[in-house]
Amino acid sequence: MTSKVVLAYSGGLDTSVAVAWLREQVNMEVIAVVVDVGQGGDFEAIRRRALGAGALDCVVVDARDEMANSYVVPAIAANGLYEGRYPLVSALSRPVIVKHLVAVARSVGATSVAHGCTGKGNDQVRFEVGTKSLAPDLDILAPARLWGMSREDLLRYANDRGIAVEATGTKLYSIDENLWGRAIECGVMEDPWASPPDDVYELTRQSADVPVEMVLTFEQGVPVALDGVTMPLPELIASVSRIAGSYGWGRVDMVENRRVGIKSRETYECPGALAIIMAHNDLEALVLERDLAHEKQRLEPRWAELVYDGLWFSPLKHALDAFFAETQRYVTGEVRLRLTPGNCIATGRRSPYSLYDYNLATYDPDDAFKHEYAEGFVRIWGLGVATWAGKQGDGVGAPGTASGNQGQR
Ligand code: ARG
Repeated sequence: MTSKVVLAYSGGLDTSVAVAWLREQVNMEVIAVVVDVGQGGDFEAIRRRALGAGALDCVVVDARDEMANSYVVPAIAANGLYEGRYPLVSALSRPVIVKHLVAVARSVGATSVAHGCTGKGNDQVRFEVGTKSLAPDLDILAPARLWGMSREDLLRYANDRGIAVEATGTKLYSIDENLWGRAIECGVMEDPWASPPDDVYELTRQSADVPVEMVLTFEQGVPVALDGVTMPLPELIASVSRIAGSYGWGRVDMVENRRVGIKSRETYECPGALAIIMAHNDLEALVLERDLAHEKQRLEPRWAELVYDGLWFSPLKHALDAFFAETQRYVTGEVRLRLTPGNCIATGRRSPYSLYDYNLATYDPDDAFKHEYAEGFVRIWGLGVATWAGKQGDGVGAPGTASGNQGQR
């Protein structure tokens, strides 16, 4: 009996060639799996293409709700931004895809899974480490790392076999998209000094110029409503994205450290993700106690790194999720964002669990803060350095020096 391989299929040239290649070179039956994580596209046409390329079957999974509720929600709780800037768009979708690959592999009795990633990127890491963390017994095949074909070779390979490919033979950029945003790589942007051409952007072309406000409502860290209208998360993200993007806001242009040791120039547009994280962060500032907030902020970059590095299904990442989930208990309330061309800022926040106490904060006559207590507090707070200054600080002669410690600290 021929063994079966389950291939993560996108409908693009590489994964279409991979279907034929796996049959011909490895002599396996290929089951293609297309996971809808909000990338858009005609899934029926993609399914036909997989079958046309020789797949035994093609399974299309609608994972948009799952992506939003089980992957984006924890990312919001963690204010997930890799290297402080990238909202982990591709990194969040790969574990969703892996989960379904493994599920299909189990249901059809496959011995392997396959992906179409090259050897230079993070996505291969996420597919493979993710698969191994869910199903250590499955083999992994990465045809694009083995076949050594250029884009021209791939087109010829597809042509010779009558495999349908996208309309044009030229492809300028490598694009990965889902409901959390869009990543654009390659082409002229491989020069980190070169400005991305205007045409790489789709979600952030400015069409609006009259300033607008939007109010995001959160319940326990989860965005649930926009301007008072409750909606499912995928829809809410899409709406926020559309509005923020129409002000030409939500772009990230950065040089990023890939897990595989390469620095790469990355261009992203993630207006929805960035606006939601901004609002979420802002609400946390209102409701989280200081030590909790500071400790959480220290752990957030670690979470983003683990997710970026393909360790979604790992014990440390799970433990951090549990910590973040606990912190979200009172992250309920509203944040108002104001949009103007090229800009988005929070201009208001409120919560039933707000720790902001007007009577403590105000300089008005309502002031309830005990000013006289501050004197003793500040003296004792500074006692350690006052003692130090008297014995060892600047201006005190230190052993072996003529003039004390000036300039040495
Ligand atoms: N650099 C980003 C990441 O590693 C984006 C990857 C985009 N993937 C792609 N196949 N174009 O998450």
